[in-house]
Amino acid sequence: MERLDKVLSNLGFGSRKDVKGIVKDGAVEVDGVVAKSSNMQVDPEKSKITVNGEIVRYRKFIYLMMNKPDGVVSATFDNYDETVIDLLEEEYQVFEPFPVGRLDKDTVGLLLLTNDGELNHRLISPKWHVDKIYYAEINTRVDESDVEAFEKGIVLDDGYKCMPGKLEIINSNEDGSEVYVTIQEGKFHQVKRMFQSLDKRVVYLKRVQFGGLSLDEKLPEGSYRELTEEELEKLKSV
Ligand code: URA
Repeated sequence: MERLDKVLSNLGFGSRKDVKGIVKDGAVEVDGVVAKSSNMQVDPEKSKITVNGEIVRYRKFIYLMMNKPDGVVSATFDNYDETVIDLLEEEYQVFEPFPVGRLDKDTVGLLLLTNDGELNHRLISPKWHVDKIYYAEINTRVDESDVEAFEKGIVLDDGYKCMPGKLEIINSNEDGSEVYVTIQEGKFHQVKRMFQSLDKRVVYLKRVQFGGLSLDEKLPEGSYRELTEEELEKLKSV
């Protein structure tokens, strides 16, 4: 059991003093009865709590899927740039979520955000081999020799040999190519550096899948939504 003011405060209903105010105004009900005191004990998992008639959904963890826009950094704080956390509404920020791994400032697409440290750890640990799929546009022709190079494991500029990756060519000519890249690692600028090693340049990069979850195409860049139960199950089972 927990104090009502603590539960509501943690869910973003203001400070404990603020909560005391709304309880005093008679705006809070617990299991159908108007709460008289903000220090009453409630079971946040079981009690039905409403504020101004609206049901308060209690949860410890949140899991968000964002379509990350260009120009925003995947960090919780930055001195200069807007962060993905800045894009979240207050009701989500109160959970103190953080991005699961990173996308470059100019990379767009699927980014997960959560405050579940354990799941985050599992998803970004190279031990677990979580597939990440990117759609990329390349400045020039990409051919079978590049597909083979990805299969063998590309050596980056710093000498690191990447794990085998999958390169699928959607279309390709001298003026540019569209490809899908599947990798399991997440080294700094990895996809860009893999192509750099082949003397090619990534001109557009979008992550379309992560751990079996596909980017919801209905999400415009810069918007986000909570994962569905099924999506969360899928992610937890990778
Ligand atoms: N590879 C990159 O080069 N950049 C990203 O943002 C993700 C993967």
